[in-house]
Amino acid sequence: MAIQLGDIAPDFTQDSTEGSISFHEFLGDGWGVLFSHPKDFTPVCTTELGAVARLKGEFAKRNCKVIGLSVDPLDDHKAWAGDIEETQGVALNFPLLADSDRSVATLYGMIHPNADDTLTVRSVFVIGPDKRIKLMLTYPASTGRDFDELLRVLDSLQLTANHKVATPVNWRHGDDCIIVPALSDAEADELFPKGYRKVKPYLRVTPQPNL
Ligand code: BEZ
Repeated sequence: MAIQLGDIAPDFTQDSTEGSISFHEFLGDGWGVLFSHPKDFTPVCTTELGAVARLKGEFAKRNCKVIGLSVDPLDDHKAWAGDIEETQGVALNFPLLADSDRSVATLYGMIHPNADDTLTVRSVFVIGPDKRIKLMLTYPASTGRDFDELLRVLDSLQLTANHKVATPVNWRHGDDCIIVPALSDAEADELFPKGYRKVKPYLRVTPQPNL
């Protein structure tokens, strides 16, 4: 059955550019992003991996490890890393799984045969400290992802994991939040000392609670 939000992220052991990786052990107690790209030595993938390498510090600030995957062999990953550094101005600084037996791609449903029956699509899985899947994205090979959006989503996931708020459209760190509808006004009065604006009974807006 396809992986769904809230499922435990399937564990696996696979070779990578940083040696053999056992996924749950690699994640430890923190957050994780597992993402696939279709193929080494391709242009969009080259730019994506450079972008993720540049953002590694931002992921680390959020206690989040990143790990990439394609179904290419390890030797290709290692050779391609040189091209990434040369063309993107940053060295590969996170592990890339060499999933040439497709075991991880199959486990995570990263091959969509009606799009391409051999290569992985651009899948993203965000995994929480409880090892559960918090978010999934799927992009086609022709469209590079926006990894700044992934940081924005992580900010929302980490905030909403700890406070009884949701984040509205286009929310960014520092913006007002929405009090979850399950809370009564009396509970909201107690939990949100900065107060809130009641636009509708179900739409109560409050400053970001952890700032
Ligand atoms: C790319 O990364 O540029 C790419 C990879 C596979 C198919 C199409 C584009």
